[in-house]
Amino acid sequence: MDNCLRNQTAKIAVPKRRVVHERLPPRGRIAAMTGAKAIEAAEVTKSYGDVKALRGVNLEIAHGQCVALLGPNGAGKTVTTEIFEGYRKRDGGDVRVLGTDPNHGDRRWKSRLGIVLQDARDLTDLTVRESVTHFSSYYPNGRTSDDVIQAVGLVEKADAKAGQLSGGQRRRLDVALGIVGRPDVLFLDEPTTGFDPEARRQFWDLIDDLKEDGTTILLTTHYLDEAEHLADQVAVINRGRVLAVDSPDALGNRQKSQAVVQWLEDGVQKSASTATPTALVGELATRLGPEIPELAILRPTLEDVYLRLIADDGGDLNIPTVAGGGSRG
Ligand SMILES: Nc1ncnc2c1ncn2[C@@H]1O[C@H](COP(=O)(O)OP(=O)(O)O)[C@@H](O)[C@H]1O
Ligand SMILES: [Mg+2]
Repeated sequence: MDNCLRNQTAKIAVPKRRVVHERLPPRGRIAAMTGAKAIEAAEVTKSYGDVKALRGVNLEIAHGQCVALLGPNGAGKTVTTEIFEGYRKRDGGDVRVLGTDPNHGDRRWKSRLGIVLQDARDLTDLTVRESVTHFSSYYPNGRTSDDVIQAVGLVEKADAKAGQLSGGQRRRLDVALGIVGRPDVLFLDEPTTGFDPEARRQFWDLIDDLKEDGTTILLTTHYLDEAEHLADQVAVINRGRVLAVDSPDALGNRQKSQAVVQWLEDGVQKSASTATPTALVGELATRLGPEIPELAILRPTLEDVYLRLIADDGGDLNIPTVAGGGSRG
C-alpha cells in the first residue's frame, strides 16, 4: 500500500548526467554488479546517531529465490529491507535491486517491487475489496482484486472495512496489497506476525505459488519453521552484519553436525554424541536387542544453529536479555 502511495507521489528524479564512476561499487567489494542477481548488497552501513544499525551488510539474492532474513530484535532486518526498498538511504556500501540503486529507483522500478512493511499504515475507511481494487489499478499488470482476495483468504471479509479486521486479517490485507501489482521482487517484513496456525499455512501456500511464478522474495520472520518451509536460503543477521547465508538444511553445517543418540538402558536415559550414529545404533542393537527402548537420533534444529550463531557472535547487543525464545519478540 505504502509503496503504491509512494509510487503515486514519487517524483521521478533521474539526474540528466550521471557520473558513471560514482555509481560503480567501491573497488574490491563486489567484483561485478552485473544485474544478474535480483538483489546485491555490499558492505552496506547505516547509523542512527551512535547506533550502528548496519555495520557492513553483504547479501546476494538470485532471481526467483526466497531468502529469509533471521535475526533478533534490533539486528537490522527492517533497516536492511527498507534500504533495499528505497525507503531509507544507506550511509555507505552499494546496493542494486533489479539492477538499480534503490536511491535512484524511478516509478517503473518501484512498480516492480511489492512491499509489506513491518508496521503498515492505517488504511482509510475502505473495504478490503475497495482497497485491493484501488491499488491494483496503479499497476499495468496487476492481479485482479478477486484473485488477490482469494489468495490471502479474505473472501469472507471482502466487504468489511479494514478497521473491522482482526490483527491477522489486517496483516493479510497488507500482504494482498503487497502482491497485487504482480511484483518481481516482494519484500515481506514479518508478514505473519499475529497469524493463527491455519492462516500461516495459507500464507505459506500463497508464497509457494508466488515462488512458482518466479517472484524473488525477501522475508523477515521470527518463525524458524516458516523460514525452513519457505526459504531457499536463510541469512542470519546480528548487530548489523550478516553472519551466515545458506540453505536451511546446510546452515551451520547442520546436517554434518554430530548426532545425538538417545536410548533407555536398564531404566536409565542415556545419550551419546557421535559422528556415526548408524554404527552406534548397530552396537546398541547387538547389546539390547533389535528394539532399542526409546531410541531417538537428534540433529541440531535450525533454531539450535541459529541460536548458536547469534551466541557465538557475542549475543545481541541491542537486546541484552536475548536467550532462547527471548530473541523472538
Ligand atoms: N529511525 C531510526 N532511528 C533511530 N534508530 C533506529 C531507527 N531505525 C532503526 N534504528 C535502530 O537500528 C537498529 C536496527 O533496527 P531494525 O532494523 O528495525 O531491527 P530489526 O532487526 O528488529 O528489524 C536498532 O538498534 C534500532 O533501534
Ligand atoms: Mg524489524
